[in-house]
Amino acid sequence: MLLYSVWVTTLSVVLLLPLSSVDGGELRLWHQVLVSLAKVSSSTNIKNITLSTNSTMVWTCCNTCIKLGWCNLWYPDFSARTCTFYNTFVMPTYRETYNDDAILCYTKRPKDYATNANITAGLQMTIPSKKKENLVDGIYNFNILNCFHTDSAEREKWFVLDLGAVLTFSHILLVAQPNSSAKRTMYGFKLRVGTSPLESYTGFSAYDEFGEFPGRAYESQEILIQSPKAVSARFISGEVSPDAKQLQVCHMEVY
Ligand SMILES: *[C@@H]1O[C@H](CO)[C@@H](O)[C@H](O)[C@H]1NC(C)=O
Ligand SMILES: *[C@@H]1O[C@H](CO)[C@@H](O)[C@H](O)[C@H]1NC(C)=O
Ligand SMILES: *[C@@H]1O[C@H](CO)[C@@H](O)[C@H](O)[C@H]1NC(C)=O
Ligand SMILES: *[C@@H]1O[C@H](CO)[C@@H](O)[C@H](O)[C@H]1NC(C)=O
Repeated sequence: MLLYSVWVTTLSVVLLLPLSSVDGGELRLWHQVLVSLAKVSSSTNIKNITLSTNSTMVWTCCNTCIKLGWCNLWYPDFSARTCTFYNTFVMPTYRETYNDDAILCYTKRPKDYATNANITAGLQMTIPSKKKENLVDGIYNFNILNCFHTDSAEREKWFVLDLGAVLTFSHILLVAQPNSSAKRTMYGFKLRVGTSPLESYTGFSAYDEFGEFPGRAYESQEILIQSPKAVSARFISGEVSPDAKQLQVCHMEVY
């Protein structure tokens, strides 16, 4: 309860400042991001509220998003005095490629290093859209077709991110697939980190352990693996237990 009141107090102070400068400024706890309206409209959870005055719009919308629990992104339409809330994950450094209908939203997701990283991975399962790049594209709408799904062979159930440079981080978040088969594709999961590339799949024993998730995951579980100490690394490998049916992961964050 004490923690909660501290949080609310901090939030109100932080948010009072930018009320008059919403157009240019970034709210401290939120990041502005341009994203296609059509893309966020495919969210599996959407809600609108209409407010009676402009003055409390930003404050009310931030707080409403937090209170909803499932909300990751919101869009203020100042002329209609509505705020629309979406569960879609959009990372602050997401790069929109369809700008025709882009809207300026606020995302709750943190600035991270997985977005726009390079990725290599084991052989993909047959569905073409379920590619490894889905883990580094900075957007996820809880549709299983936008997850990364590997083949079932033992040597294929892995991925490696290349952050492009040695960077320091302590949190890695993974989101399990959005149905109950998550228990078969996300367990005995190990994350390791390193500073040099590996020529081929070797089980990643040359890398240092970052953390693990014994599992088994439930649907859409947000698995946050935190290192007791910040680590500095360029490469991050992830692999599931050899017994797992396949590896399926839908979204990833590194910060
Ligand atoms: C929410 O409000 C916006 C106006 O900003 C409107 O375009 C949109 O269709 C509404 N969405 C829903 C789900 O009602
Ligand atoms: C609210 O803001 C919008 C856009 O800035 C403006 O068009 C509208 O007149 C404002 N409404 C009120 C009641 O101030
Ligand atoms: C990803 O690979 C491309 C092509 O090799 C390179 O230009 C880019 O800098 C790389 N980005 C990162 C984050 O490693
Ligand atoms: C979950 O999705 C997978 C595809 O990844 C599918 O094969 C499986 O049948 C689905 N399971 C359930 C319980 O819907």
